[in-house]
Amino acid sequence: MATFSPPATAAATTTAVTHLLPCATSSVANRLSLSSSVYFKSLHSSPLLSHFFLRQTTMGRVYNGRLSYATATSPICSTSVPEQLKSAREDIKELLKTTFCHPILVRMGWHDAGTYNKDIEEWPKRGGANGSLRFEIELKHAANAGLVNALKLLQPIKEKYSGVTYADLFQLASATAVEEAGGPKIPMKYGRVDVSGPEQCPEEGRLPDAGPPSPATHLREVFYRMGLNDKEIVALSGAHTLGRSRPERSGWGKPETKYTKDGPGAPGGQSWTVQWLKFDNSYFKDIKERRDADLLVLPTDAVLFEDPSFKEYAEKYAEDQDAFFKDYAEAHAKLSNVGAKFEPPEGFSLDESSPQAQPEKFVAAKYSTGKRELSEDMKQKIRAEYEGFGGSPDKPLQSNYFLNIMIVIAVLAYVTSLVMN
Ligand code: HEM
Repeated sequence: MATFSPPATAAATTTAVTHLLPCATSSVANRLSLSSSVYFKSLHSSPLLSHFFLRQTTMGRVYNGRLSYATATSPICSTSVPEQLKSAREDIKELLKTTFCHPILVRMGWHDAGTYNKDIEEWPKRGGANGSLRFEIELKHAANAGLVNALKLLQPIKEKYSGVTYADLFQLASATAVEEAGGPKIPMKYGRVDVSGPEQCPEEGRLPDAGPPSPATHLREVFYRMGLNDKEIVALSGAHTLGRSRPERSGWGKPETKYTKDGPGAPGGQSWTVQWLKFDNSYFKDIKERRDADLLVLPTDAVLFEDPSFKEYAEKYAEDQDAFFKDYAEAHAKLSNVGAKFEPPEGFSLDESSPQAQPEKFVAAKYSTGKRELSEDMKQKIRAEYEGFGGSPDKPLQSNYFLNIMIVIAVLAYVTSLVMN
């Protein structure tokens, strides 16, 4: 199917306009976006989107007559406005109460962020939480099957709040869904900038497969590329405490089970847990026991109790829900930030009491570079490097201080010997 790339000049001008205006609701910015009839046709010809898109076309006419769904019907906004994000959060809570869409919102946030490649410096080439998953070209990646339904649910909220980026909305929706399902409070920050066009979407194939030949190796390849470690792989996999797998989407799971045949939401699919709208540690308990054939265990779930390093965490989380919640909240917040460009660069919190409202410590980074403020990119790199060998830039390893003291002593000894001679 032919895909449309907007003319480079139009894309560049759009970026320029939105850069100048914090929230360019102007029709100029919208028109400069993807209002091409070619793009309209290409969206229409997608079987996956046809039903959805027909509705969006009508919506487009109702709202502003724009031709393409994702960008043209929505104001372009260079970052989010805190008050609007707070209101959007209330709307998401209402949406959750009426549609029980917690699981698919969590999957949407994860799939937007999970394309991040820490070895690519350039934004948005490096992928990550940048709102690119709103574009048809990325929604059509096999791993994203069904996520168009999440976008469909969130789009009216996006339409309502011109000062909220897609990248923030996806992550806000995911964190709110976890919290509303009974999960831990996620220390989120906001201010993510959106990519401006489909040509900035990552290539297909960055998200994990559920049944690769060697699941442990595959999970490490994919999650290490995002700068995440074994603990975070296991903790994040615990999000499968929510939701179902549908054979018509991913190819995995049964068409229905005794736990899913009556919904809530659209019935069907196979869940990992009995109460698949409750966020708790039953995912780990159920995989460990494997007593119920109606509950799903993907090869990438099973390996969490087979690989020695993963197993250490999986066993702990099966025993101790508090430990799971603590590690999950940290890992979720980290995943929601990967690859994101924040404006302001340090991001902002919606909750005064949240630790994210305080500036990050980055003791080691300040110590070693002498700079007071580091760019978000640099922080991500430094953090990934420290965490790669089990440390943290907030709590530098003792050896750092020890090494530096040794160097100071050596230099002093050398200078003293020079003076004495
Ligand atoms: C570890 C590698 C992972 C693999 C291989 C994987 C695979 C899958 C598959 C095959 C589905 C079923 C999709 C469908 O048929 O609709 C699914 C659903 C889901 N995934 Fe994952 N996933 C992984 C990690 C994650 C992570 C890190 C999160 C979140 C932090 C997550 C959250 C979810 C949720 C909430 C659902 C349920 C969606 C729904 O009910 O609509 N997954 N995953």
